[in-house]
Amino acid sequence: MVAKHQTPVLSLIIPTYNEAKNIEILIPRLAKVLAKIPHEIIIADDNSPDKTYDTALHLRKKFPRLRAICRTHNRGLSPAEIDGFQIAEGKYLAVMDADLQHDESILPDMFRKLEAGAELVVASRKAEGGGVSDWSRFRRFISWGASLMAHLLFPRLPSDPMSGYFALQASLFQRLSAQINPRGFKILLEIVAKAKQIRVAEVGYVFRSREHGESKLSGAVALNYLIALAELRFAGIFSREYLKFILVGFTGIAVNQLVFTAARRFGQLPDEKALLFGIEAAILWNFSINNLFTFRDQMLRGMGRVMRGLIFFQAICLVGAYINYATALHLSHFLGFNIYLANTIGIVIASFWNYFLNANTVWRKA
Ligand code: GDD
Ligand code: MN
Repeated sequence: MVAKHQTPVLSLIIPTYNEAKNIEILIPRLAKVLAKIPHEIIIADDNSPDKTYDTALHLRKKFPRLRAICRTHNRGLSPAEIDGFQIAEGKYLAVMDADLQHDESILPDMFRKLEAGAELVVASRKAEGGGVSDWSRFRRFISWGASLMAHLLFPRLPSDPMSGYFALQASLFQRLSAQINPRGFKILLEIVAKAKQIRVAEVGYVFRSREHGESKLSGAVALNYLIALAELRFAGIFSREYLKFILVGFTGIAVNQLVFTAARRFGQLPDEKALLFGIEAAILWNFSINNLFTFRDQMLRGMGRVMRGLIFFQAICLVGAYINYATALHLSHFLGFNIYLANTIGIVIASFWNYFLNANTVWRKA
């Protein structure tokens, strides 16, 4: 046994909530994998009822590089990770789940990439050699959709922005720590969105299925994630253009209602058709006014360019409409939100989407 071990170079944080059984398996595995790297392992437990913390203290007798903290306030995955980062001594920090879903054998690879100069190394299910073991089609689809959105909003994102398994230079964390918002499950996204121009490396791995204990991620996670994305993307950039865009959006509502009413009353159209007329009129109206007013500095001129812009605008708004629809349904049916509130949230998120995508494609600044 080592009496006084070297100062750690790598600090591996493991957030836990009811993972006693898993850490008994994981810690010995880690000791083997990390044998050649001066390291410490920090279990950041939220006072789990299954006594994960006590189990960690017990394991510590055999694995002196193991440390454990017992948190009693501000429960949650991200805040636990941040607390772990804060007491870590290593020059490099890493996080992994306790539940054996993250393949520990790639840790030395991740470590080498940090040593080679990467500031952030993401263990990725999407990079070469990566994958998921037995996900249902549905879960794959959700995961695909969420990461597609993330990539559209943040063009320079790593291939697996939702990974809970990554490593970074402690100095990068210190530089960003004041800006990191420790909520939910999105710490990596937070880091990537706030750090501009960092050297990111990836290592592929296969996400295993969970054998003991249960997942704490609910069905609401994908949605929270989208809200987080929107927040990260849009906080602080409520530009004049954005406000104009929203204003135009409101006038679009009026146009929609007017045309809808006219089509019903005077055109004698059935509701299903009249609604479509209203929606299309609003899209045409919004497109024209945004072109003339909101984005006048990048105004599209000439038939060809206007038509092309309009096609893009239509497509983007269609996706926006879907986001509105899916968010509202999800919030109300699965999370029990009042339908009006749910729809309002859907509208707000969709408007972020519409604005950001249009501002960056149709009316992109040269
Ligand atoms: N301290 C603490 N507090 N730990 C928590 C909490 C909490 O409130 N909630 C979850 N954890 C720990 C779990 O004990 C586990 O070690 C790890 O965080 C991941 O939690 P899971 O509940 O197993 O999450 P998952 O497997 O469904 O989600 C994983 O994949 C997602 C992407 O698909 C995680 O790696 C996520 O970070 C990742 O976004
Ligand atoms: Mn898990």
